[in-house]
Amino acid sequence: MDDTAIQTSTPAQVESVIRRLSLLQHGDVAPSPDPDVAPLFPGFRFDTNLVAGITPIERNGPLDFRITRPDGMRGWIINLTIKGAGEVFDGTNRFVVRPGDLVLLPPGAVHDYGLAPGAEDWWHRWIYFQPRAYWGVWLNWQQQRGDSFFMRCDDDTLFADLERSFDEVTAWSVNRDLLSMELAMNILERVILLCAKKDRATAPPGHFDPRLLMACKFVTDNLHRPLTVAEIAQEVCLSPSRLAHLFTQTLGRSILRWREEQVIQFACHLLLVSPSPVKQIAAQVGFEDPLYFSRVFRRYIGCSPKAFRAEHGRAME
Ligand code: FCB
Repeated sequence: MDDTAIQTSTPAQVESVIRRLSLLQHGDVAPSPDPDVAPLFPGFRFDTNLVAGITPIERNGPLDFRITRPDGMRGWIINLTIKGAGEVFDGTNRFVVRPGDLVLLPPGAVHDYGLAPGAEDWWHRWIYFQPRAYWGVWLNWQQQRGDSFFMRCDDDTLFADLERSFDEVTAWSVNRDLLSMELAMNILERVILLCAKKDRATAPPGHFDPRLLMACKFVTDNLHRPLTVAEIAQEVCLSPSRLAHLFTQTLGRSILRWREEQVIQFACHLLLVSPSPVKQIAAQVGFEDPLYFSRVFRRYIGCSPKAFRAEHGRAME
């Protein structure tokens, strides 16, 4: 993918990020109330379902440092390089990304990245997110590097479509009211689908077992009650051990861990759209013990259900 096509259409949002960055010196910290710039600097708390932006790194500029997260993050990240070259280290491999390259980092995936040696700039768009319940099957690209996934988008039309969609996700997500966040999630789903479609186009036949899709659907239809692997396996006519093996091999984590992720996402949704007390919401998503629910919630989201609601539920008042 060549850079020139991309540089001609810098959207206003990117220009404004760059303008604000140019006021900072190398080594400065971001002014914290600036929602476009603050997430680009260490110390930002990613304690929400979706944060998106663009990181325009220029050699010796204020963003010319490595983004190092040895324990990964709580949510997923999808990165799209739009200019220059970056160097990504995923804990095992070191590789260079260029315009059109996508990197997908699951929760907990080690990452350490920055400007590639010899490159003058590296601009990438990114979205940090907690997926919707049924996205799991699409977040599993063929090309795995360490804990992360990689894909090259070598088609100009698709690239332009992806860039526009990343831009739209970013634009909606800064509003933070519930409907804007739903719109951002909606366009992010489009990004995820476009990537999955591109990935499947080169997948060997039979790559994805349809029984896994059935299993995921069964789990998401029954989020309100605890399920065992044996129950799910019976529903999709597989033995428990076969289902467990197939699931982990295809989706990179156990089916019960995946279920827990979906439960927490559903709980986030309920906390924002329903006025019920946390205790009741915990029960609605199958937790009898609200304290245990809060503990699990905190592990995934980084704050208590109450704090989450206080921070993100204002739009509902
Ligand atoms: C920003 C990084 C970007 C992405 C998000 C989650 O600080 O610049 O690459 O990792 O955090």
